[in-house]
Amino acid sequence: MTVSTAPGKVYLFGEHAVVYGEPAVPCAIERRARVAVDERDDDHIRVEARDLSLDGFTVEYAGDTDGRPDVDAPTDLVDAAMGYIDAAVEQARDAADAPDAGFDIRVESEIPLGAGLGSSAAVAVAGIDAATRELGAPLGPKEVADRAYRAEYDVQDGQASRADTFCSAMGGAVRVEGDDCRRIDTPNLPFVVGFDGGAGDTGELVAGVRRLKREYGFAADTVGNIGDIVRRGESLLAGADPAADPDPDLLAELGRLMDFDHGLLEALGVSSRTLDSMVWAAREAGAHGAKLTGAGGGGCIVALDETPETRTALSYTAECRDAFRAELDREGVREAGRR
Ligand code: PMV
Repeated sequence: MTVSTAPGKVYLFGEHAVVYGEPAVPCAIERRARVAVDERDDDHIRVEARDLSLDGFTVEYAGDTDGRPDVDAPTDLVDAAMGYIDAAVEQARDAADAPDAGFDIRVESEIPLGAGLGSSAAVAVAGIDAATRELGAPLGPKEVADRAYRAEYDVQDGQASRADTFCSAMGGAVRVEGDDCRRIDTPNLPFVVGFDGGAGDTGELVAGVRRLKREYGFAADTVGNIGDIVRRGESLLAGADPAADPDPDLLAELGRLMDFDHGLLEALGVSSRTLDSMVWAAREAGAHGAKLTGAGGGGCIVALDETPETRTALSYTAECRDAFRAELDREGVREAGRR
């Protein structure tokens, strides 16, 4: 058995616009998906999964996931989880040149599904890492990122950027612009996450932005403006000392850019009442800035606050089901055990 873990992420800036070639800066956070993989004697796949938004389920199948399992968990979330796991298995089989390999897979995740924290990317990254190691064909983190991207791309019908998977595989803060993906040095940013208990449909939200962009020139400009925010943000980060605590002026300016980014995402129709409520609760508590993270529609916001105030305010906000501090995780995918 081989176990690998990989971190989730928040978007400091740039989700949605990254789909159209603008840059984005996602940051890995200390919330991980853990995937244990045991090679079987046959070609069957057995998956046991558990995360913050699922009570857990077990599925066994041969070949593919077409026959939907009878499980006690919301259908769309199980379908989503199984789609990513299935695609990750295919990538691992292909990478290890073992098309008939079967596995027992156990997924434990501290990251809620579909909530903008990169849960599917973390599961795909950790799963591909563990399965290829288990088959004796370990990959480097960049190769894992590439394979996980291909898995996401298949599941999301081509509507995926490399941001989530590269960030989860490499850890730390990264900059993604089209196929150009690199790590960037940043000070430890004081992220606070608020989760409304819900999830957004990434494919539908991405399609909605695409429609708006096609119909209105000003929506296309809005996407470009998000790119401008990201470029401004990364030049601020490039001037900061990664070894020192972040300067209050830097946090204030990054926060302002996050607020701006959220406003533009709202204009593109991907926020929601609960996300807006949490963003406002964070701002009123004195956060430097706050925005939705990920596809939107429901799920999580991220705020910048080095004090406990935002977390406390969010925990008293009716629309917020869970609020937590999320430290930047400088480590990406890693093997966490073998037997
Ligand atoms: O909600 P998440 O964590 O899957 O992030 C989606 C981010 C988008 O930019 C909307 C899509 C993408 O693949 O980059």
